Amino acid sequence: MSFRVAILGAGPSGLAQLRAFYAARQAGAEIPEIVCYEKQDDWGGMWNYTWRTGLDAYGEPVHGSMYRYLWSNGPKECLEFADYSFEEHFGREIPSYPPREVLRDYIMGRVARSDVRRFICFNHAVHWVEYCEESRQFTVTVRDLKADQLRSEQFDYVVVATGHFSTPNVPYFEGFDTFPGRVLHAHDFRDAREFEGKDLLLVGSSYSAEDIGTQCYKYGARSITFSYRSSPMGYDWPKGFSEVPLLTRVEGKTAHFADGSRRKVDAIILCTGYQHHFPFLPDSLRLRTRNRLYPANLYKGVFWLDNPRLIYLGMQDQYYTFNMFDAQAWFARDVMLQRIGLPTVEAMRADSEAWHGREQQLADAFEEVDFQRDYVRDLLQQTDYPDFDVEGAGELFKEWMRDKQRDIMNYRDKSYRSVLTGKEAPRHHTPWMEAMDDSLEAFLGTAPRPAVRKSA
Ligand SMILES: Cc1cc2nc3c(=O)[nH]c(=O)nc-3n(C[C@H](O)[C@H](O)[C@H](O)COP(=O)(O)OP(=O)(O)OC[C@H]3O[C@@H](n4cnc5c(N)ncnc54)[C@H](O)[C@@H]3O)c2cc1C
Ligand SMILES: NC(=O)c1ccc[n+]([C@@H]2O[C@H](COP(=O)([O-])OP(=O)(O)OC[C@H]3O[C@@H](n4cnc5c(N)ncnc54)[C@H](OP(=O)(O)O)[C@@H]3O)[C@@H](O)[C@H]2O)c1
Repeated sequence: MSFRVAILGAGPSGLAQLRAFYAARQAGAEIPEIVCYEKQDDWGGMWNYTWRTGLDAYGEPVHGSMYRYLWSNGPKECLEFADYSFEEHFGREIPSYPPREVLRDYIMGRVARSDVRRFICFNHAVHWVEYCEESRQFTVTVRDLKADQLRSEQFDYVVVATGHFSTPNVPYFEGFDTFPGRVLHAHDFRDAREFEGKDLLLVGSSYSAEDIGTQCYKYGARSITFSYRSSPMGYDWPKGFSEVPLLTRVEGKTAHFADGSRRKVDAIILCTGYQHHFPFLPDSLRLRTRNRLYPANLYKGVFWLDNPRLIYLGMQDQYYTFNMFDAQAWFARDVMLQRIGLPTVEAMRADSEAWHGREQQLADAFEEVDFQRDYVRDLLQQTDYPDFDVEGAGELFKEWMRDKQRDIMNYRDKSYRSVLTGKEAPRHHTPWMEAMDDSLEAFLGTAPRPAVRKSA
């Protein structure tokens, strides 16, 4: 097939695109020439742990926001690939909340069974993308980090799969300049043990705040204060936790809040989310959005309306993750292979605006799950991606939210039933609050590990 596709990023979304083309080739289709550029030295995207923060060895921004002891914050049954079950990968069912290393193993296990690695140029950072109206081609300029050389190539399609949980959103609060302790963003958080015995302030009231807060407590922090901008998380927190309104300023070690309260803290972690950041794209091609379920100006959540040869994967806020990336990648593949035709620009815009409008009416997290469920189903029904119980996964998300409401510190001890295999996950050998070793070996081992309890 005589066209060329550039895939930017080899995280779960980029790998989904590679896997989609692989599946088509296995089924006898001719596929285009593909080059995937990845700035890290391995595939896996966000799921690769790095101790580094700031800049990497080549001066590129460190991509990783994951930290040690990170466990999945949703049941694995909600993100299982329709064409590769956990049971198939591990040879048996595993508990519902795996740590990072285990999930990484699963994601990579699927692609490792194909030959797509040969399409990836590792240690290649994308620096610029340009579109030429006359040739209808993109020029992609990358830096070969090892050789320290720039080079450019032409492509007919560009798939942007560079993630959006990497460039931190860092607000300033008065007094940060003189705070006599650590002020860091969640992106740079790595090891909870750094905060053993400390009084911690976390600004933000979403997943990062909740997870970093509970984890620091698990590893020995003395107290956790969450400061919210819009609304508190409202969980039934145990002793040692509190939720207060927005930080107004810090004076020395004293943090002041909007309700007039104050407290002494040793360190401040800004769990204030991330920016969609595409420094390699000109304004005319660049998606500008906050973290939301249906970013504007994308048809089917993936095709750039002003130029649908530019495709964005995984740019939504996410309930569904890996199987949603698959649904997007399979749909995008079928458009590129001309199995699915795109409607007129007006029709694409109207479709996108209708979804966008529906998103703005959503009343709560349950409706958000339904919305993303419908979106995934809409994509799936037009491709040959293996059918899976999208509704069933949606119901699991709701069960998960109810379980968190019931017991925020121990919800990871629950088990769910796979919508693929119908089998219930076994209970983990150690309650999450006592499971200090998050290695793949410890997780998959059957014997309970000795619990190293916090010393505080
Ligand atoms: C702290 C944290 C915890 C999370 N936990 C979960 C969880 O438990 N379950 C879940 O399902 N999801 C979780 N997520 C969401 C996670 O982001 C997705 O699961 C998934 O990694 C998104 O895949 P992606 O391929 O779109 O992006 P990423 O995984 O971010 O991959 C993007 C890739 O693009 C590369 N890249 C970026 N810029 C360039 C460039 N200029 N040139 C070349 N390559 C580039 C990066 O190196 C990276 O490999 C979590 C996210 C965070 C931040
Ligand atoms: N263990 C895990 O699996 C795990 C752990 C951490 C994160 N994650 C994932 O990482 C992704 C990102 O989560 P996230 O929590 O970092 O980002 P997020 O969900 O986008 O939430 C951002 C938070 O920052 C707050 N905020 C933004 N600007 C602020 C400001 N100027 N002042 C005060 N508060 C501000 C927001 O408040 P408002 O509500 O007012 O907007 C919101 O609470 C999610 O997909 C999540 O699932 C997973």
